[in-house]
Amino acid sequence: MTITTCVFDAYGTLFDVAGAARQAAKEPGQEVLADLWPRLAEDWRRKQLEYTWLRAVTGDHCDFRRVTEDGLDWAMEAAGLDDPALRSRLMALYDELPAYAEVPQMLARLKAQGFATAILSNGSPAMLASAIASAGIGTQLDAVLSVEDVGIFKPSAKVYQLVGSRFGTRPDQVLFVSSNGWDVCSGAAFGFATAWVNRAGLPMDRLPAQPGHVLPDLTEIPQLAGRL
Ligand code: LAC
Repeated sequence: MTITTCVFDAYGTLFDVAGAARQAAKEPGQEVLADLWPRLAEDWRRKQLEYTWLRAVTGDHCDFRRVTEDGLDWAMEAAGLDDPALRSRLMALYDELPAYAEVPQMLARLKAQGFATAILSNGSPAMLASAIASAGIGTQLDAVLSVEDVGIFKPSAKVYQLVGSRFGTRPDQVLFVSSNGWDVCSGAAFGFATAWVNRAGLPMDRLPAQPGHVLPDLTEIPQLAGRL
């Protein structure tokens, strides 16, 4: 197998989704978040993802900003927060999530080694463009592939097919990297070579296909891509 193309999930993999609530909690007037923010961030992410899966099953697609708002509304209500200004601030911060520290150098090394690089994400093109610009990684990416081109969220195979449509690759020429266990297992079932970035030391998801490789962060992705 020779890998030509490295494709990354965005949220949770390149961008730290807890960053919005963490940042808001540091801002003046948001003392209420001091203890609440980790739970708020976790509930927000979990509900956002649940809504993507449910909408994929029912065929009731909307864009990722809508499920992100809906997940935030659920999480804020669960935390007893009724604060439209805070809601707006958290959504604005979601457009400038921090990238994990190793991301720029890891992408630069992949480009230097001659790999094509891309994002494949549930995110809408506008949300992804904001996060990429904020992280300053746009020049290191050959493509930004959004589910909006097929109108259904991951893990529909239609989403994973976007990579071959864009790059002309067979699935086994692609290294797909995700921190989301369900996403990387689904990519493996599709036929991609896969790496699960398991920062939190979570158990492996019990799904039909398993990731080929498990790494603690993104640092070793260029070495892995080079030896596959
Ligand atoms: C994405 C979600 C799954 O970026 O994190 O597609």
